[in-house]
Amino acid sequence: MPDKSAKATRIAVIGTGAVGSTTAYTLLLHKRMSELVLIDVNKDKARGDALDMNHGLPFVGNVRVWAGDYEDCREADIIVVTAGAAQKPGETRQDLLKRNVKIFESIIENVTKYNTTGILLIATNPVDVLSYFSWKKSGWPANRVIGSGTLLDSARFRYLIAEELNIDPRSVHAHIIGEHGDSELPVWSRANVAGLQVDIPRARQEEIFQNTRDAAYEIISAKGATFYAIALALDRICAAILRNEQSVLTVSTLISGHYDLEEVYLGVPCIVDHSGVREILDLELSAEEQELLRKSARTLKSHIDEISV
Ligand code: 2OP
Repeated sequence: MPDKSAKATRIAVIGTGAVGSTTAYTLLLHKRMSELVLIDVNKDKARGDALDMNHGLPFVGNVRVWAGDYEDCREADIIVVTAGAAQKPGETRQDLLKRNVKIFESIIENVTKYNTTGILLIATNPVDVLSYFSWKKSGWPANRVIGSGTLLDSARFRYLIAEELNIDPRSVHAHIIGEHGDSELPVWSRANVAGLQVDIPRARQEEIFQNTRDAAYEIISAKGATFYAIALALDRICAAILRNEQSVLTVSTLISGHYDLEEVYLGVPCIVDHSGVREILDLELSAEEQELLRKSARTLKSHIDEISV
């Protein structure tokens, strides 16, 4: 059993589909928490996942994993929300909006009934609009309502640049910002390795960005869903929160007054610590990048206008 003398850390994962269960497994492998609760409308799926993971504990060590209910969110430090409809081949993330807002109505109501102090980490698509919705609906301060944003896109971008340059992707500092979706943009003007500007011809840059932006479509058409890399991204955010890391991560956060934008959730580099998003970093963007970011924000705002909260 977990050591009850130490303060327990609890993560609740809501939704045990491909993303939720892979995220739970990734969190377990890294022992990010002492308590992991899985919540799903399909109770059998959550129960089966919990059992399956419990049988791995002799290889991992003390973590309490169980299938629970919203009451179990009460003591959660982080509530990761992955529940909802996922993209089918040919669908965009925004196509999911109406269906997933309906699901979020009850999820956020239920979570906030039992928890007032945790951090909501949203992964369901369209993630920026649903993070905005969750912020509004919960009434929680924006620093405690975070979307996975363009952290995954930035990872894909860094991987592809690293392949091009033949270096470790961890040594590539490059960001995708804006919507986690079709209107996102690459910040080539700031992409660097050890402070040296990334030197890739413009035409090739364009290909790398397109492959980054369209990666999910390719994976979904190949195997039906994406889940490994998003699980690692969510795990990374949880680590930054629980260990008070003050790491810079491109998560989706409320932008009001930064980048000349007002009241929209989108992905930009943020400092993430125990409080959630501690600070938004203002990247110096080229004029072209600024214009693309404004466009992405306009797209997101038009989707926010489609929902009522
Ligand atoms: C992804 O980018 C589908 O949003 C998901 O992998």
